[in-house]
Amino acid sequence: MHSESFPRITIALDGFAACGKSTLAKDLCAALDYAFIDTGAMYRAITCWALREGVEPDASLPWARWLAGLPLEWQMSDGKFRVVLDGRDIEEEIRSMSVSARVSDIAALSAVRAFLVRQQQILGQHGGVVLDGRDIGTVVFPDAELKIFVTADKEVRIKRRFEELQAKGYSVTEAEVRANLAQRDHIDSTRLDSPLQAAPDVVWMDTSAMSRALQLQIALEEARWRCQKKNGWAAR
Ligand code: DC
Repeated sequence: MHSESFPRITIALDGFAACGKSTLAKDLCAALDYAFIDTGAMYRAITCWALREGVEPDASLPWARWLAGLPLEWQMSDGKFRVVLDGRDIEEEIRSMSVSARVSDIAALSAVRAFLVRQQQILGQHGGVVLDGRDIGTVVFPDAELKIFVTADKEVRIKRRFEELQAKGYSVTEAEVRANLAQRDHIDSTRLDSPLQAAPDVVWMDTSAMSRALQLQIALEEARWRCQKKNGWAAR
């Protein structure tokens, strides 16, 4: 893949937790020399701050004012997306079970969503980006050239997330991971503000039994085809 020859489009990856979105997003970014925007990490960062401050996910609290003053930064470099709170990289903290247990409640707050959607639109405004999340193809970039809705079998998702957390050294049981994914699936898809939904023009990708290489190949073919359709562009 010659990245210079590929138009700087916007690629939206949506789906439930642990379906393989971020792996595919990173592979696409490496292949196309695009920037990765991990929108879940942004919701997790605000959750981290709320836990630290002992703030409840209560919509009647002055969230918009707090968010405007939060010492949060988003950094995109070397294919990595990092969240920095108070000048400190908080990648490890945002993946902890305490953050996972609370993040869907925080992400259901309209003030939080409005703030982060705006930030994501600014970060992705020039294209050449892959965003992974829940509302990218429906709310953040409804005109994204390519939208993929990633799915995977429930047991596969539980196993993947459990092994991933274990490999990172978190002490967690499979039952906790199962309960957390079920709770987040429910809240993320039933909340009132921009629930997880597939946009009408998505490409469906079930990653349960699909190799990483094949997922990337399919996504690249879809990206190429959509560029050709939209701009009359042809890959060299
Ligand atoms: O992708 P993730 O599992 O790191 O996301 C953490 C939570 O953030 C997820 O349970 C729901 C929320 N989220 C969201 O509501 N909208 C997004 N665009 C991304 C994540």
